[in-house]
Amino acid sequence: MSLQPELPETLSSTATEAVQILNANDRGTYSVPTQGLYPMQFNWDSAFAALGYRFLDAERAWTELFQLAAAQFPDGMIPHLVFRGQHEGYFPGPDVWDNGQLIPGSGITQPPVLASVARTLDEDCPTQRHNMMVDLLRRLVRWHAWFMQYRLDTVSKAVLIIHPWESGRDNLPDWDQVLQRVPVANLPAYRRSDLGHVDAAQRPTQAQYDRYLSLVYYGRERHWDQQWLHQHSAFRMVDPVMTAILLRANRDLLVLLQRYELYGCLGQVAADIHTLESGWRNLWNPDVRAYTAFDPHLEAHSGSVTSASFLHCYAGVLDRTEHAHSIDHLRRFARRVKFLLPSFDPQADGFDARKYWKGPVWHIINYLVAKGLHECGEERLALRIERDTLTLSEKTGLFEYYDPETGEGLGGKTFTWSAAVYLDRWCRLHQG
Ligand code: DGY
Repeated sequence: MSLQPELPETLSSTATEAVQILNANDRGTYSVPTQGLYPMQFNWDSAFAALGYRFLDAERAWTELFQLAAAQFPDGMIPHLVFRGQHEGYFPGPDVWDNGQLIPGSGITQPPVLASVARTLDEDCPTQRHNMMVDLLRRLVRWHAWFMQYRLDTVSKAVLIIHPWESGRDNLPDWDQVLQRVPVANLPAYRRSDLGHVDAAQRPTQAQYDRYLSLVYYGRERHWDQQWLHQHSAFRMVDPVMTAILLRANRDLLVLLQRYELYGCLGQVAADIHTLESGWRNLWNPDVRAYTAFDPHLEAHSGSVTSASFLHCYAGVLDRTEHAHSIDHLRRFARRVKFLLPSFDPQADGFDARKYWKGPVWHIINYLVAKGLHECGEERLALRIERDTLTLSEKTGLFEYYDPETGEGLGGKTFTWSAAVYLDRWCRLHQG
């Protein structure tokens, strides 16, 4: 059996709760983000979940990653939703996505953190299932290549999304303008299941939801032709989260491919890293002195600083001047709110401390940003972000997201990725 990182003998009450959540949301070979609101496998949720499972059962953690990768479509995409098991009650379900694939999933993808989590697991608790690992790496090569073929913006060389759900940051104010231009399709009457679980004040609006759903209908009308969607989707925006995560994932994949002696694709992955590095640099917006989203249609940067603006260290692109400006923004955020990291600039119009990606703190972004900050020597800020992650969890429990001003837990309760990130941080702290 694989060695696994040990859980300390005595757990804090929140660490105990985290373990209970991971167990309760475990469906055997995959996990759900939370019961009720999201009753099936979500792409990046699942990858983060494995970080938590590695403390409970290392091979179970690997199974989570293998199962996610097994949902890969023939073209290489790993979808953002995989409908396994009992998912009744979730809307839009597989009948609405109608993706025409053997795997009932969505027709879009999500930030590819899978390779980076695989590297972390491989360093902590390498799997005994060598063949599965090799298969996983081959699938990762194909998924990353899919991004370069179907999601690379030819102008900026950074990664674009064709649906706000693809970014994971559904209602980020940066998407608002382009989303408003999406014509609302002739939608059948529908009932939003999310509002049965979470207060509407903490979720996207009905006008946004109509457009999210319209984009699903436009996609399926085109039989999810990714080439067409890449060029003509009514929603196209270049996303710093996608770009930083894919860039980092390629760096981690390169290490794993070497470790497992899969030398055939090294050249391609290295070339993609090079392209994405220039893509990330092109997200620098000199007007606001931060890395921001980019509208490929208008060839214009969005004007807002978001939590993604601090992912340059995680992406491994360090320009001293740009780094200094970014850190200034981060310190400004830290002075304005009680808990880091708000998802949107707390001094900008459109900030809303309780509404999903318009302001709340998300543990997964805290994890990524703090990891990058440690790596580039910004220890104090990294530790502040990690301390806030722990405090928020211990204060109100393991929620989907948190109010950066009051610390109140918001959105879905008993959330898998919050439990996983909490446990990861807490265990590292208690193991010295
Ligand atoms: C949802 O169901 O609200 C998700 O964000 C879709 O990805």
